[in-house]
Amino acid sequence: MATTTFDTSASFAAEMDARDPLAAFRGQFHIPQAPSGGASVYLCGHSLGLQPKRAREYIEQELQAWKTLAVEAHFRGRDPWMPYHRLLTNNMAGIIGAQPGEVVVMNSLTVNLHLMMVSFYRPTPQRHKVLVESGAFPSDRYAVESQIGFHGFDPDHFLLELKPRASEATIRQEDIETLLAREGASIALVLLGGVNYATGQAFDMEAITRAGHAQGCVVAFDLAHAAGNLPLRMHDWNVDFAVWCNYKYLNGGPGCVGGCFVHERHARAQELPRFAGWWGHDEQSRFQMGPEFRPMPGAEGWQLSNPSIMSMAPVRASLDIFAAAGMEQLRKKSLSLTGYLEFLLDQDPSRKFTIITPCEPERRGAQLSIRIRQNGRSVCDRLNAEGILCDWREPDILRVAPVPLYNAYRDVHRFAERFLAALE
Ligand SMILES: Cc1ncc(COP(=O)(O)O)c(C=O)c1O
Repeated sequence: MATTTFDTSASFAAEMDARDPLAAFRGQFHIPQAPSGGASVYLCGHSLGLQPKRAREYIEQELQAWKTLAVEAHFRGRDPWMPYHRLLTNNMAGIIGAQPGEVVVMNSLTVNLHLMMVSFYRPTPQRHKVLVESGAFPSDRYAVESQIGFHGFDPDHFLLELKPRASEATIRQEDIETLLAREGASIALVLLGGVNYATGQAFDMEAITRAGHAQGCVVAFDLAHAAGNLPLRMHDWNVDFAVWCNYKYLNGGPGCVGGCFVHERHARAQELPRFAGWWGHDEQSRFQMGPEFRPMPGAEGWQLSNPSIMSMAPVRASLDIFAAAGMEQLRKKSLSLTGYLEFLLDQDPSRKFTIITPCEPERRGAQLSIRIRQNGRSVCDRLNAEGILCDWREPDILRVAPVPLYNAYRDVHRFAERFLAALE
């Protein structure tokens, strides 16, 4: 996979697939059928990852436990439900670069973001702003604005947006650092997407955390488009908290349970305000049903409710596959696969589109966002009708993500061929 010299022939793609050490993992996923029969070209892993074949087995195991043991399955059976979430912890911690105690699988992304902001967005008269990227995912913006409003402040004054420069599509690192140096003393929370959902830009999370901390800000990331896409080191980078969903690159199924990281330096911060629930209470005394809340140390102390076992089972199936493939290996293939996609698109001289995702590999993950000048929506519809699945974000962006776990070089080749034809 060391090759960086691509060529445009179909035989090159076939050769790359034959040499791909991760090629066999594709067989562990269900690939949807194209309308003409045969496998579709699925390039939507940035939106909803494919179903791991073992998901059914893991769900059936729990249906069986429910059928045969019912309430007893909380404590008995092959994988008792009480500690079931911990079956996911180590692999999840590996994916986001955390210590196991810093990670918990619970709720969904926006819920976790609110829970984290309750604890970590503590505005004061001097320090009250929240820094987000312009074009942040709307749910994050709504959550932040509602938290600012909840504290009795006006979001119009307290929400700071990082913007790309005029005529640029993505945000420069130097501009982030300049803004932090200028406004940092009034910023309570920096909340950026690890990878922006629309542009595919990956932020330098380590440098941003350092720059934010130097100004006394809390620094957090929404890893929806980064988890399972990029190697991450949340602990070493000293990030305060992070939240993510598990249904994109992590293939946990539609609307499945999300993830939450809290750095260990906050693990025992009992003085932090938090919205509490019984599942975050000290495990040893939880069933004594006492009136006084004592949080578990670490991320688990932010749990509210007993979690959905059926929702965790497919996430577990996917995490097993990640553990077998290895994030470093996946990133290696991803760099090559996305580079190949960019190479094939760059062959087109027509200028009917622009790739707005940064061209530097370290500033992006698997996704390329293609701005189409005219009739882009119909190009997307046409590709989808042919069984080439990518998605459309208004007003003019086609998002395409070759996912190293299950996409092949021939998928990328086929996409490029049909995309360029559809543009004609
Ligand atoms: C970047 C980002 N943040 C937040 C969300 C919202 O996630 P959820 O609906 O799981 O709360 C999404 C959903 O796609 C997203 O892409």
